[in-house]
Amino acid sequence: MAEDGYRLWLRYDSLPKQTVERYRPHVASLVVQGRSPTLAAIREELVAGLSGLLGTKVAVAADLDRDGAIIVGTPRSSPLIARLRLDHLLRALGPEGYIIRSVRLDGRRAIAIASDGEVGALYGAFHLLRLMQTVQPLDDLDIVERPRLRLRILNHWDNLDGSIERGYAGRSLWNWSELPARVDQRLRDYARACASVGINGSVLNNVNADARILSAEYLRKVAAIADAFRPYGVRVYLSIRFSAPMELGGLPTADPLDPTVAAWWRQKADEIYSLIPDFGGFLVKADSEGQPGPRTYRRTHADGANMLAAALAPHGGVVMWRAFVYDPKPGYDRAAAAYDSLKPFDGKFAPNVLLQVKNGPIDFQPREPFHPLFGAMPKTQLMPELQITQEYLGFSNHLVFLAMMWREFLDSDTYAEGPGSTVAKVIDGSLYGQRLTGMAGVANTGSDRNWTGHHFAQANWYAFGRLAWDPNLAPRRIAEEWVRMTFTRDPATAERIVRMMLESYEALVDYMTPLGLHHIMWPGHHYGPAPWWDKAERPDWNSVYYHRADARGLGFDRTATGSDAVSCYNPPIRDLFANIATCPEKFLLWFHHVPWDYRLLSGRTLWDELALRYQRGVDWVRAARKEWDALADRIDAERHAEVARKLAIQERDAVWWRDAVLLYFQTFAKRPLPPGVERPA
Ligand code: GCU
Repeated sequence: MAEDGYRLWLRYDSLPKQTVERYRPHVASLVVQGRSPTLAAIREELVAGLSGLLGTKVAVAADLDRDGAIIVGTPRSSPLIARLRLDHLLRALGPEGYIIRSVRLDGRRAIAIASDGEVGALYGAFHLLRLMQTVQPLDDLDIVERPRLRLRILNHWDNLDGSIERGYAGRSLWNWSELPARVDQRLRDYARACASVGINGSVLNNVNADARILSAEYLRKVAAIADAFRPYGVRVYLSIRFSAPMELGGLPTADPLDPTVAAWWRQKADEIYSLIPDFGGFLVKADSEGQPGPRTYRRTHADGANMLAAALAPHGGVVMWRAFVYDPKPGYDRAAAAYDSLKPFDGKFAPNVLLQVKNGPIDFQPREPFHPLFGAMPKTQLMPELQITQEYLGFSNHLVFLAMMWREFLDSDTYAEGPGSTVAKVIDGSLYGQRLTGMAGVANTGSDRNWTGHHFAQANWYAFGRLAWDPNLAPRRIAEEWVRMTFTRDPATAERIVRMMLESYEALVDYMTPLGLHHIMWPGHHYGPAPWWDKAERPDWNSVYYHRADARGLGFDRTATGSDAVSCYNPPIRDLFANIATCPEKFLLWFHHVPWDYRLLSGRTLWDELALRYQRGVDWVRAARKEWDALADRIDAERHAEVARKLAIQERDAVWWRDAVLLYFQTFAKRPLPPGVERPA
């Protein structure tokens, strides 16, 4: 069979004979009582999954008629589940939580997958399949799961013309010209994949929004997509253009405090909900990078967000207001801009507003310290925005497992309420009791046959979903699951691939932006190095703004002697960052302008260490290529060859990065490359 990657991690090829023998007594039949689109989806997935994995068609039964049944449902959909008397527990877990338990009913053994909601039962079904795909035991199951965050959302930066901003895997999955008459079957597979990791929302269009998405014509198309996603528990959201009342409604203003504007939004919300009763809400990029917003009318972020929130509130919708704002002003540092603009509004947002904040204060760089707003807005519902698509990380050409970056971010201690106030605790509500919680990821999907351009980029979609479900999961565990489901069940081979994935993030940082360097990519497309860039229309779109190389040294002084952006952080982390002697070296050049001969922990000078880091990154890619080549007979030929070709590009790019950046910085450092660093050819 061609292994083109279309099936993602939902591959149900038959298990080895021994495992099948072990499983068979537990999986003799499937009982999904009741009727509904979600129950049908559960039945279909389990029939395909169990039959595929066991290599024989699983029996579908109406009732418990033998030993070894899988029973799935809610106490309302399934009389069998009702008899287990789990209602109390299930209600506590919520409609998306579930229990998978080995039980006995009428003396017969069964595995029950029970939830208070049908979507929770679907999540449980995917969990059981994952156990089997990763060859885990099925005896004595007692699994209790519930999502830690309520909104687990993909943000698609898809334009109405089918292109995708920062998309590297083909065209948009939404075929607007065919919709609503024809809904691509692929949308169902997209929703399946999302549901399999618990993703429950999808913002269909670019944050740089086209007002037309809210026209009657497009809303009908959006409704058709919502219908396709609904059985899988994926709600649809839209990015809106703040000035839509003018562009679509012909109003003379979009002033959020103008009653005609508020009425227009209320009516629009009513219209949307009449077509899509479970519509999720709006994502808003306002007063940012040329997008319209409340500022034009001297209104605040809170004015804008709360007016939209009021229109959605009667229907249960939410507003995700983006914190990606950075207006230049004298003496300004972009790293403090969003903090300065938004912190004053802590406690001022309506209960159905979330502030969507990028993980770092600049813009989806390979490595940034956590965004200081996560430690500064105790009375605001914060949701992080991660970028799954690799805008600044080599597009879909580089193998990089982003769970490592996200883990570092989620574990960052904000010290907002003393030690242990990690970002994970801020966003999951455990620190401040935040009621509405969530996490967004800018999607990396597209029309490419393998969905994400690079086979390994599928792992980042997977990892995002798993971390949004449980922000405490370990990257190793996520990688192990994914590799076993996607590439191989052979433990030794899986371990080698997992190790590559776990190392890949640090390696990419090494060959792109080690020691706290950032934003030195080519302008515009952001692929490849251009540290020399100084011609942008805004200073903060220039590389030289960020690295500040001169004869003395390198890096952005964000301490009191410089921009003082470090003061956005709480003590003691602020003091730790601000002191060159205690600042973690991974953020050294983010916070400090460091002399070329400054000694690092290794005992080497900054210049030597920098050069060696770039070399180390290149060395890793070369070693990864060898390692991958050595796995040729362990992986299907097609995917193996495709990944090998991508790794060749990654090596070319790593060498390009090393040579370009070192040759350029050498014009300031005027020091030779240390031994061990290759001279550019
Ligand atoms: C980055 C990205 C843009 C995007 C913006 C945003 O700057 O390059 O394409 O629109 O982020 O997140 O709004």
